[in-house]
Amino acid sequence: MKKLLTLLLLSIFSCSTESPLLQKKLSTSFFNEANPITLGCYYYPEQWPEEEWNRDLKNLSSMGFEFTHFGEFAWALLEPEEGKFNFEWLDKAIDLAAKNKLKVILCTPSAAPPVWLVQKYPEILMQNDDGKTMQHGSRQQGSWSSKIYRKYIQKIVTELAKRYGNDQRVWGWQLDNEPSHYGFPYDYNAASQDAFVQWLMNKYQNIDSLNLRWGNNFWSQRYSDFPEIRIPNAKELVQPANPHALLDFQEFTNQQRGVFLREQASALRQIISSQQFITSNYMMQMPHSDPWVNKNDLDFASYTNYPVNSYSEVDNGDLGFRLGSGRDLALTHDFHQSVNGVTGIMELQPGQVNWGHYNAQPQPGAVRMWAWHTFALGAKFICTYRYRQPLSGNEQYHQGIMQTDGVTLSRGGSEYAQAIKEMNDIKKVFKADSSPQQKVAIWWDQRSMLDMYNFPHNRNWSAVSELYRYYESIKSFALPVEFINAAPDPKHYPVLLIPSIQLVDDAMIAQWKKYVEAGGTLIITPRSGQKNRDGHLWKMKNQEKIKELVGASILFNDHLPASKKAQVTMNNKTYEWNSWGEIVNLQNDSASVKIMATYSDQFYQGKAACVSNSIGKGKVFYIGISSTTGDFEKEILKEAFLHSKLEITELPKYIYQEKRGNLTITVNYSSEEFELKIPEGSKIVLGEKVLKPGEVTVWME
Ligand code: GAL
Repeated sequence: MKKLLTLLLLSIFSCSTESPLLQKKLSTSFFNEANPITLGCYYYPEQWPEEEWNRDLKNLSSMGFEFTHFGEFAWALLEPEEGKFNFEWLDKAIDLAAKNKLKVILCTPSAAPPVWLVQKYPEILMQNDDGKTMQHGSRQQGSWSSKIYRKYIQKIVTELAKRYGNDQRVWGWQLDNEPSHYGFPYDYNAASQDAFVQWLMNKYQNIDSLNLRWGNNFWSQRYSDFPEIRIPNAKELVQPANPHALLDFQEFTNQQRGVFLREQASALRQIISSQQFITSNYMMQMPHSDPWVNKNDLDFASYTNYPVNSYSEVDNGDLGFRLGSGRDLALTHDFHQSVNGVTGIMELQPGQVNWGHYNAQPQPGAVRMWAWHTFALGAKFICTYRYRQPLSGNEQYHQGIMQTDGVTLSRGGSEYAQAIKEMNDIKKVFKADSSPQQKVAIWWDQRSMLDMYNFPHNRNWSAVSELYRYYESIKSFALPVEFINAAPDPKHYPVLLIPSIQLVDDAMIAQWKKYVEAGGTLIITPRSGQKNRDGHLWKMKNQEKIKELVGASILFNDHLPASKKAQVTMNNKTYEWNSWGEIVNLQNDSASVKIMATYSDQFYQGKAACVSNSIGKGKVFYIGISSTTGDFEKEILKEAFLHSKLEITELPKYIYQEKRGNLTITVNYSSEEFELKIPEGSKIVLGEKVLKPGEVTVWME
């Protein structure tokens, strides 16, 4: 009871000023409001001789790191035999960390089940879409749906909580490790199959309802009872799976991850002190990521980021492959911060990694720039991965803060030392901003995103790329972003982007309308409103659900061969498009509607491609095309920002700028020098007016 009351009081007094929409539970109480950032580093005591632990933790601490992170892959050492726990080594490591003034983040070890568990219960293992069962010998092979696996996790988590849950040296807890299944997001094992059928029974109650909502009269797909249903699996189907079945299976998978984490969180919550936080370190795996599922289980969602990794599309000139993507780092941050209003980065790359197609060395300065960029975005902590480069095991070529001798700083290590020193200096002049910052809101709806990801309609059009492109354009105006899923107050969020929200219901549309009537600027992009939440096309004309918002009808969409470009004209300027065009038709009596752009060619030449519509105190912009370079959408965004009186700064590509408290931080991910234009009277407190690639400048007005 006392604990409950403390939780309640903390939740009332801990609301952050950084995000007006989201009411935080405990989040900011774990962080000192006046201290913008705390830096830490992963350490694996179990991977190094015990006589080196003190030396390493001492060196880590003397570099200025304030916390360390233990234990996420140590199950086999914590419970070497079933029910026989060995915490002595961890006791010693925590003790040494504390002696060296380092707080500890402890992690639940569910990502690496020990071999005895797998041998005793092989049914806990995941199965891939080829029907192959994963085996012991790597990590993350456990099935979220296996109740046996989850029962054993409960046991070890409870033991850990009993031992460390009221230990003041432990700052907080991370659940699992990057809860995803890396490149293979779905589990097809028997436990997953059973749980999916059960999930469908709960959702649909009777098979007739499922048949109807999955459209199962199509191609004779009807079922007569739930147990006949198999997980949709492209590998065993001649043609693509039923789209509604696939969408449900994806949603089920997210919910299973939710259950998997929720059970761990509640095992901890029953025992641990309210001074310790609970988080998980999500990996961005769009569109499969959905940290919102565990919003109420976690104090905040944290995330991992490895900017130089050879997987993301980085076209920022000659040095792009060494500087990484500032857009991806920022989007990952904003996405996870949006869950509970506070976040930190749990893993940030310290140097060359081992798991890319090839593994480029980051540009000198890049590691420091990523740390500063993360600071700028508002992270409360940065934890870098990892302290020592491993001499054996799966990640031998992964650089750490120290080189392979364990005592010589790596290049990235030196950049961390520099960043820590600089951040400590900046803290002396930093002042947190107590007034809420106006932000651009992006509506986040994973189900819509998945539906278009599964069936893009045009394989040259991608819902995920579109989202990233819009995000990048917003950031090019130096504006802060928050992802939301309930219409916000236009005072705090003057612009709301609806990025191809294909699956809508009346309640969503009513919220958007209310937002506009209250003075908000709504930007709606192609495909929005086409289907209902089950993924059925509406029994009405194309996209008619959003006709009132758009102020016009959207007649149909068109796609062109990859080799062909068509044009639209806006303000006498032409823009190219190719992958997606929606043909908008105005009613004669729509005085509130203004045509912003028209098609310059094709059989619908002269028809509208983009319109604006005034409703109440606000305005809707409907963008009907995906332009080839994104320049068209950027013009509309600019118009919307100016219309809603947002203060913008136009930045060249790959330059990012954020305001945090009294500081403005600019980082250069481009391959060219960039000259800052700072207002008269401003003072540079770090860096130079001209930023070379990979450099940072911090200034105050
Ligand atoms: C992360 C993972 C870590 C480590 C790291 C190496 O994705 O969470 O455990 O493997 O990659 O870069």
